[in-house]
Amino acid sequence: MANRLCRPPSAEELRSGAAQVVQRGSNEAQPSVTLAAGHGNKRASTFQFDAVWGPDAPQEAVYADAVADLVCQAVQGYSCTVMCYGQTGSGKTHTMLGLIQQALADIYGRAAAANGSVACSYLELYNEEMSDLLANDSAVKVAMLDDGKNGPAVLKGLSVHSVTCCDEALALLERGTDRRQTASTLLNSSSSRSHAVFIVTIQTSELNPAGQVVQRHGKLHMVDLAGSESAGRSGAEGQQASEAGNINRSLSTLGRVITALTSQQAHIPYRDSKLTRLLRDSLGGTAQTCIIATAAPTVQCWEETASTLRYAQQARGISNRPQVHATTQAASSQEVQQMQQKMEQLSAVTLELELQRVRAEAAHAAAQRAEQRALEYEEQLGQERQQAARWQQEAERWRHEHDELVKQLDQQQQQQAASALEDSVHLQQVAIIEAEVEGLKGQLRRQDATIKRLQGENRAFERQHELEGQVEHLQRQLQAAQENDQPNPKRARAVQLLGNTRR
Ligand SMILES: Nc1ncnc2c1ncn2[C@@H]1O[C@H](COP(=O)(O)OP(=O)(O)OP(=O)(O)O)[C@@H](O)[C@H]1O
Ligand SMILES: [Mg+2]
Repeated sequence: MANRLCRPPSAEELRSGAAQVVQRGSNEAQPSVTLAAGHGNKRASTFQFDAVWGPDAPQEAVYADAVADLVCQAVQGYSCTVMCYGQTGSGKTHTMLGLIQQALADIYGRAAAANGSVACSYLELYNEEMSDLLANDSAVKVAMLDDGKNGPAVLKGLSVHSVTCCDEALALLERGTDRRQTASTLLNSSSSRSHAVFIVTIQTSELNPAGQVVQRHGKLHMVDLAGSESAGRSGAEGQQASEAGNINRSLSTLGRVITALTSQQAHIPYRDSKLTRLLRDSLGGTAQTCIIATAAPTVQCWEETASTLRYAQQARGISNRPQVHATTQAASSQEVQQMQQKMEQLSAVTLELELQRVRAEAAHAAAQRAEQRALEYEEQLGQERQQAARWQQEAERWRHEHDELVKQLDQQQQQQAASALEDSVHLQQVAIIEAEVEGLKGQLRRQDATIKRLQGENRAFERQHELEGQVEHLQRQLQAAQENDQPNPKRARAVQLLGNTRR
């Protein structure tokens, strides 16, 4: 029931260089999407789907995988729904318009082959009010009648336009899309501010083996939801902020309906929003439904993408009970004859269409192979880019180490030069000190000589002093002897000594 499509990065996203976090799984047998880890504690996770298309997948591939079978069922009388779901700017409208164009071309081929007639309606749900995008009077509002029964919503006031060829239907699609509420936001220059449903009604008639006319009333609902958005990131203010509030409220009710349906709750809150009342038959009702979840590829949208993928994966668990809407009547012989003629005429057309289908399938298979090859190349390129980044890091490290070494070498050279200078200053100082020491030694020698001379002089002086003492003593003795005038040996000796001393 759920599929996922990732659009290519926008020019803005490429310029920002933001990491791309949405990766398609490589196992074709079990389509999956891996959301790489985001900032903080946002962990990587993998989600399983029925089909997954990468950013380069052509619209034809999406149509062939997801919508072609439902168109077939609608022509068979079933009510079918294709719904695009995802955050703002993720590519819902782009995808849906491409699918509607292909579905119309396909329906015309098939309905013509089944003797059918086709009609279109285009409904908009804006700020919880429904209006008719194809009405001549845009003031007329559409009302949803609650007949208390399960089944398709009954819409009062919605115009139904019979169309006889694909171009007429495309013109209606264009007219209605032009009238749809859009605005420019920071996340999408042409953001849908409303949910829109393009409804194709297909009525076919055929004869059954019992000769009765079987009339089938199939419907194809192509639902382009408005995208969830955070006001902070979309820059919504004033009227845009209140639109965003209504959009987010109805989408969160849709999320609760999906959760209630898949967790087998007794109460499904369809009535909590007009959107879920409108989609009641598509979610858990009698319609056959395909949900296409669209995702933006970059890490800035991580939270919205994780939420989209979670709901889309959960929606796979919803089981519907598809019913054919057909009436059977007895046919008159004239009717039988007319129908047989018409069926013969149409068998040639059917054959041609079958041929076209086979060719389209072959082209689709070739496109898938090319996409697979592109994925492989992309993976290889990614590995080579990683290797190149590692080498670059290694080169950076080497360059850094080289710069460090050069710096250290410079410092060592400077230190050596400084210490050489210091050495030469030191040597000069040593020479000066040595000269000073030599000078001091000379002074010392001279002082020694002076001291010796002075000591000699001192000794002579002391001797002289001593002798003078003796002289004085002898003179006193002599004087005493003269006074007594007596011969005195001591005096004679003193006179002799005194004579020696005077000599
Ligand atoms: N698969 C794709 N390939 C190339 N361009 C794409 C693809 N999907 C979307 N884009 C471009 O991305 C932009 C946003 O796409 P779109 O308007 O479809 O987003 P949206 O989901 O409808 O957003 P909103 O919820 O705001 O209406 C558009 O310019 C569209 O052309
Ligand atoms: Mg849109």
